[in-house]
Amino acid sequence: MRLSFPFMKTPFLSYIPFLKALTLLLVAFFASTSAFGRDDNIANVYARGSQTLNGKWRVIVDPYENGFYNHRLQPYDATEPAYAGYFLDRTVTDRTALQEYDFDTAQMLTVPGDWNSQDDKLFYYEGSVWYRRTFDFDATEAQSRQFLHFGAVNYEAHVYLNGRKLGKHVGGFTPFQFEVTDRLQDGQNSLVLMVNNERHKDAVPTLNTDWWNYGGITRDVLLLETPETFVSDFNVTLDSTGEFIEITTQLEGSQLSQEITVEIPELSLSKSVEANAEGYAELRLPTPPDLQRWSPQSPKLYEVVVSSESDRTEDRIGFRTIEVDGRNILLNGEPIFLRGISIHEENPFRGGRAFGVEDAQLLLGWAKELGCNFARLAHYPHSEHMVRVADEMGILLWEEIPVYWTISWENEETLANARSQLKTLVNRDRNRASVIIWSMANETPISEARTMFLKRLVDDTRELDPTRLISAAMEVHSEPGKGDHKIVNDPFGAYTDILSFNQYVGWYDGLPEKIDRVTWEIGDEKPVIISEFGAGALQGKRGDALTRFSEDFQADLYSRTVEMLERIPGISGTTPWVLVDFRSPRRPLAGVQDGWNRKGLIGDNGVRKQAFYVLQDYYEKKKEKANKAKSESEDAP
Ligand code: GCU
Repeated sequence: MRLSFPFMKTPFLSYIPFLKALTLLLVAFFASTSAFGRDDNIANVYARGSQTLNGKWRVIVDPYENGFYNHRLQPYDATEPAYAGYFLDRTVTDRTALQEYDFDTAQMLTVPGDWNSQDDKLFYYEGSVWYRRTFDFDATEAQSRQFLHFGAVNYEAHVYLNGRKLGKHVGGFTPFQFEVTDRLQDGQNSLVLMVNNERHKDAVPTLNTDWWNYGGITRDVLLLETPETFVSDFNVTLDSTGEFIEITTQLEGSQLSQEITVEIPELSLSKSVEANAEGYAELRLPTPPDLQRWSPQSPKLYEVVVSSESDRTEDRIGFRTIEVDGRNILLNGEPIFLRGISIHEENPFRGGRAFGVEDAQLLLGWAKELGCNFARLAHYPHSEHMVRVADEMGILLWEEIPVYWTISWENEETLANARSQLKTLVNRDRNRASVIIWSMANETPISEARTMFLKRLVDDTRELDPTRLISAAMEVHSEPGKGDHKIVNDPFGAYTDILSFNQYVGWYDGLPEKIDRVTWEIGDEKPVIISEFGAGALQGKRGDALTRFSEDFQADLYSRTVEMLERIPGISGTTPWVLVDFRSPRRPLAGVQDGWNRKGLIGDNGVRKQAFYVLQDYYEKKKEKANKAKSESEDAP
């Protein structure tokens, strides 16, 4: 039987305007129906009463989006029970029923943790994975409000609780939260996430990166509890002069006009103030004379208690000032040379994304052994544990968002994504004394659109946190035929406090002998940080100083480069590339790289290479010189 339809008689082309309009309508509807997590995260989550949801989760690998395409056809509605998506967490009992998935019998992965390093079948996997975790909740014991906290999920997450969608989050390295107070069930609950780590041109980062695209729930998952009205955020810091402690606090809930008390018991400091109708309060207290400044030599942290009539939270906070003065960086008013190292967030022993306190202690412990007082957490926000361990160990930090290489500068969504990641990072870490530099980008080709994109990020950062310094790994160039003369005049440098750039003279740019003859022309009178230099070396490979990928070549390049650093006007620090070998799909050289970027000073086996000791020796000398200068200035009449 042949069916005939009226529209079959009308030329198809005449329907295009209608189909276009329908498509736009559908896109607008779906775009508007996807909710996001909280705008501003609850601060200081590890001090909150919480139930950890870390551990073994059931997972279903879903390369064809089998579990999701149905969802896209279902409207999302945060208020009514919405069809959560194809992979609902339901167990089939009826033997006649057809269901081609079952979480209860699916494979398991550990959270936190990327999937690539947990299952060889997922080593290169880029796509969707559905995670399911059940957990018990005792409503009788509960405080007034509950929130789900995710330390990070790479890259896009759609979150469902008890079959209803809470919303989605985009961005692989920043925390996000959903309130679940009215969604939890007394007894067993089912938490399902669809995680997709596919790379996209308009994403942040974009398609191409020199690091492994680890997918999954890569950091802690917590169920937080709070009173009905609670301290959702607070900031406690020295002002730029160091003469005052500036405190801001924010309440969230229905009883906002409460008295706020801030205490620093060790300084016998306790002050109260009434929060305004919006729950906001601020204090500006003269710095107690006996306050000990935080510094790498003396990373003093104070217990700070912020309480209201209904809530109490406490944090360990260091007090220091950071500023620039001409070409100097001043920490607590004293010039400092930042003896740094760049670090990727990977634990080479376990493999995969680093995420916990022990990982942070391993990586920052190696930095300390190297003689560092500074670390560049490349190229994305590391875990909160990394920053808190740096606070404890006295390692200053450069933090950055993955605005890396060829970002889609003209795309408004891309800009919104970058701004959101930056805001979340600053709000998460602005009470951490170790953090001194916010970096906007890494090696981004110069264009008007790029510089304006980055300037927007600077404006946001200055508003969010005027107390820290701003930089980025900017561009360096030479005039044609004058490759030995390096010029740093990236237009973005006009907006930053520090001029930082990556330079690979001797590796990507000539051979190490070229290092001895390069000259530098630095545009502005600002401090300079060489945010990357280095060479690849397979740990244990020996040769001479011209044998690529030998330890000898790498050590020779380091020896020549540290000499050259002293010739750069305004050099105030460096973060050589990189502490440890790290995985990258861009490094295939068999027998040497095998999928690893070998520029580490430490091999993926944890063995130090010769260049480690070259840099360690240089830093030891820099430290002695600084201590000598300091003691001479103190002895000076
Ligand atoms: C670049 C980039 C790094 C990369 C390094 C390299 O400077 O910033 O992310 O890993 O060079 O080529 O090893």
